[in-house]
Amino acid sequence: MFPSNASSPVNSADRPDLRGVGQAVTPLAYTEQYNADFVSRWDELIDWTKRAEGEGPFFSQLLLQAGACRVFDASCGSGFHSVQLRRAGFDVTACDGSPTMVRQAKANFASRGLDIPILCCDWHDLDPRQLGTFDAVLCLGSSLCHVFEEPERIAVLKRFRRLLNPGGVLLVDQRNFQAILAGQFSSSGRYYYCGKTAKVTLGELHESLCEFVYTFADGARYSLRVCPILPGRLRGEMRSAGFVVKQSYGDFKSVYDPMTADFIIHQAHI
Ligand SMILES: C[S@@+](CC[C@H](N)C(=O)[O-])C[C@H]1O[C@@H](n2cnc3c(N)ncnc32)[C@H](O)[C@@H]1O
Repeated sequence: MFPSNASSPVNSADRPDLRGVGQAVTPLAYTEQYNADFVSRWDELIDWTKRAEGEGPFFSQLLLQAGACRVFDASCGSGFHSVQLRRAGFDVTACDGSPTMVRQAKANFASRGLDIPILCCDWHDLDPRQLGTFDAVLCLGSSLCHVFEEPERIAVLKRFRRLLNPGGVLLVDQRNFQAILAGQFSSSGRYYYCGKTAKVTLGELHESLCEFVYTFADGARYSLRVCPILPGRLRGEMRSAGFVVKQSYGDFKSVYDPMTADFIIHQAHI
């Protein structure tokens, strides 16, 4: 059973079969995928407390080592990283293109007594003349995989680059699609989707589309359809956008097994 406004009904008989259509895949826009019903359950899905325990001070340490102070959280979602980093002393600006996510983030900032500036803006419209520049741009939670076309991803990465001060750092993470496409999907629940009331499984999967299905204990199901970018390809796209890729991490470790890590995090600078 699906909520009436579920993002994408899984196993629906009338869902178009996109198998084999390659780059022509056009899934729902991200703004529709993050509908109000799904977003109202986002924090239950990710579990802030367990996620904070799983990643520890990883991002704040990387940012401190890079000498960053002013941070732009480009895909803030419900605000998890903006809150962690603000509490760690960084000057954070939050941003997301989904109005429902921005509403949720604002509520989360307010309930924690944090006055974090936030804007609702698609990455294609980010402009340093309006926003100023930053020491670091973050695009976390496998968010960039919502962009299906390589030239468009490179254009977005260039937008991020323009927001950076000289020497600024970019942190982008992604699901480990190398393992997923090789049939080794794992979602340990230790780092990202930590909530215990939902199960994450795979729906449709091929080289140009990956569908994650989130099934909650009460039977509600939602899905996200994203582009399964391989980690090496994303590093190449970052270079094409003018970044120097410094290092990749698997589940927050610099030495990792590329076939078992849940998430890969890329660190780059200009
Ligand atoms: C998987 S969620 C991750 C949210 C958050 N970073 C987290 O880890 O919990 C992906 C986020 O990216 C945002 N997003 C996707 N494409 C975007 C775009 N073109 N412009 C701005 N935000 C975008 C979505 O609205 C969504 O909030």
